[in-house]
Amino acid sequence: MRRQPSPSSIGQRDQREGPLDALARHQAWGLALARQLDDETLRRQYHPELSPIGWHIGHCALVERYWIDESILGSPADPDDHALYFPENNAKEERAGRLPSGDTLVGWAAAIHRLTLERLAEPPPRLAEHPLMARDYLAHFLEQHYAQHRETLCYCLAAMRTGDPDTAALGLSRAVLPQPVPPDSVRLPAGSYRVGTDDVRGYDNEGPAQTVRLDGVDLARRPVTNAQWLAFMDADGYDPAARWWSAEGAAWLRETATRNPATWRIDSAGRYAWYGAYGPEPLAADAPVSGINHHEARAFAAWAGARLPHEHEWEAATQRGQLVDVGDVWEWCANTLEPYPGFQAFPYEGYSVPWFDGNHYVLRGGSRFTDRRLLRPSFRNFFEPHIRHQFGGLRLAWDATDSHA
Ligand code: AVJ
Ligand code: FE
Repeated sequence: MRRQPSPSSIGQRDQREGPLDALARHQAWGLALARQLDDETLRRQYHPELSPIGWHIGHCALVERYWIDESILGSPADPDDHALYFPENNAKEERAGRLPSGDTLVGWAAAIHRLTLERLAEPPPRLAEHPLMARDYLAHFLEQHYAQHRETLCYCLAAMRTGDPDTAALGLSRAVLPQPVPPDSVRLPAGSYRVGTDDVRGYDNEGPAQTVRLDGVDLARRPVTNAQWLAFMDADGYDPAARWWSAEGAAWLRETATRNPATWRIDSAGRYAWYGAYGPEPLAADAPVSGINHHEARAFAAWAGARLPHEHEWEAATQRGQLVDVGDVWEWCANTLEPYPGFQAFPYEGYSVPWFDGNHYVLRGGSRFTDRRLLRPSFRNFFEPHIRHQFGGLRLAWDATDSHA
């Protein structure tokens, strides 16, 4: 299970698979999923923060059609499609009632997907000459976009399964024994480090590459595990009056009365199950904890006498191959998403700019549901501090001046 991190350039993780092959793979996965689900399941909103499954299928298709046919080749846009499948045009709660039947949706999306692959494989002159086609950018962009929605579809599936009322029959695992956090850390020495990327195939918020000055820091080699999280729970970690909760975190905790990560289910006999996209599994003691929000991550770190890493500490250590289990869980960082000096929005304003609002915290790494093509040291994920559905976990950090061993 232990994977060594291998920093990779964008699009070169798997030398055998080009962006078009990967895009075709995502499209086929999405269509196969949609074909298996009935209309009611495709339309249902399983989580207040998530859209219906069918919406993601339609959104990914329209994004392809928009960039290739509408924007570059000049085909007319269908206003109804835009009104439904572009997120800025409606609220998540409105989507369920407006989605077409599964058959209609799949037929429409499949036709767009076929056309996308054809056009990108043998572009007509107007497309071939377009600047977005240089270095296969458009294929990469559409591939990375679908890959991210594929992960979100896994969150929808997880929400669907976690909401299953039939938890008694699920065969929960035996209780997991709590474990203390071991002082297993690596030192990132104080110094100057290059972070970010100038590769146009990265997202706009990953660039421009820059040199940052970092103080010395010790980073945990591994993310915090389920068993370590259980030790926090046993120590009354979820007491909102405890000193390790921030004011905002304590308010969230009082309001929600949260007692365990969102991915966990605990039965009356004290047995634990873990819910991912494919239903319940035994809760694995050594697996990274996931299903926690930024408030919880921060509280755990304070309880453990540590702090969350800054995203650049994580990135520098990852480039140096110092961290283990990178890509198994999204790791909450201490800082919010901010534009790098010299940031330029690309290919559209809406990908990153709306989220530079000081309330989206960065997560680094990737989860069990992240396509491996999205794993790179410069990739920045981001969510508001209360969001728990995206398989977020954490890795501890200590100022290198502290002795924590
Ligand atoms: C970066 C994962 C938060 O899903 O909202 C997908 C990625 N942007 N389509 C999201 C994204 C546009 C984004 N996250
Ligand atoms: Fe999108």
